[in-house]
Amino acid sequence: MQAAFEAVGPFDHLVVTAGPELGSWRSFMDPDMSGVRSYLEGKFLGTWACARHAAPHLKAGGSMTFLTGGTGARAKLGLAAVTPTFAAVESLSQSLALELAPVRVNKIRPGFIDTDFWDVLPAAKVEEIRARVRANFPARELGTAADVGHAAVFLMTNPYVKGTVLEVSGGELLVDWIF
Ligand SMILES: NC(=O)c1ccc[n+]([C@@H]2O[C@H](COP(=O)([O-])OP(=O)(O)OC[C@H]3O[C@@H](n4cnc5c(N)ncnc54)[C@H](OP(=O)(O)O)[C@@H]3O)[C@@H](O)[C@H]2O)c1
Repeated sequence: MQAAFEAVGPFDHLVVTAGPELGSWRSFMDPDMSGVRSYLEGKFLGTWACARHAAPHLKAGGSMTFLTGGTGARAKLGLAAVTPTFAAVESLSQSLALELAPVRVNKIRPGFIDTDFWDVLPAAKVEEIRARVRANFPARELGTAADVGHAAVFLMTNPYVKGTVLEVSGGELLVDWIF
């Protein structure tokens, strides 16, 4: 990571979207904890490492934006590794907004965005999720990568938004959990 940012040199804005597959760990009751360790390693420490090694190269007025997810704010059954990991990334962004000031550090909390993220599930399950989102979310539709990109550009360009979370979820947290 250090070598990558040294190769890039000075730059303006960091957006960290990388994250392990949703199903890359197993269940809370799995006696083997390597799954949760690797999930935390990939998402939390991956975000940490990006921020740590990007920081020396950010230009004045620069920003960092991290991606989390709705489960970071409202626990979902079966996501015992993902929920606290997203919450930790959100908390990290607040710490770094102080630690790296005046660099602006924020996070985007997406809802159901139509990307490869869901490919880990069987196609029929994804279709079921789409149908439930359309029926229940105020947006009546899944989000797109462009919706999240729009939010990222806002966070990059607004000079007075620091240490906050921008929810791009179609209203996910306004409705009862649907699964
Ligand atoms: N899409 C959604 O509905 C949704 C919902 C909740 C939260 N999110 C959040 O949004 C983020 C981005 O979502 P997405 O839809 O773009 O997910 P995605 O389509 O699954 O993309 C994740 C990306 O992370 C990369 N990656 C994984 N581990 C990596 C590593 N160790 N180093 C570098 N890259 C790595 C993957 O690369 P490879 O393909 O090469 O492995 C992949 O390109 C997620 O991390 C999650 O926090 C998304």
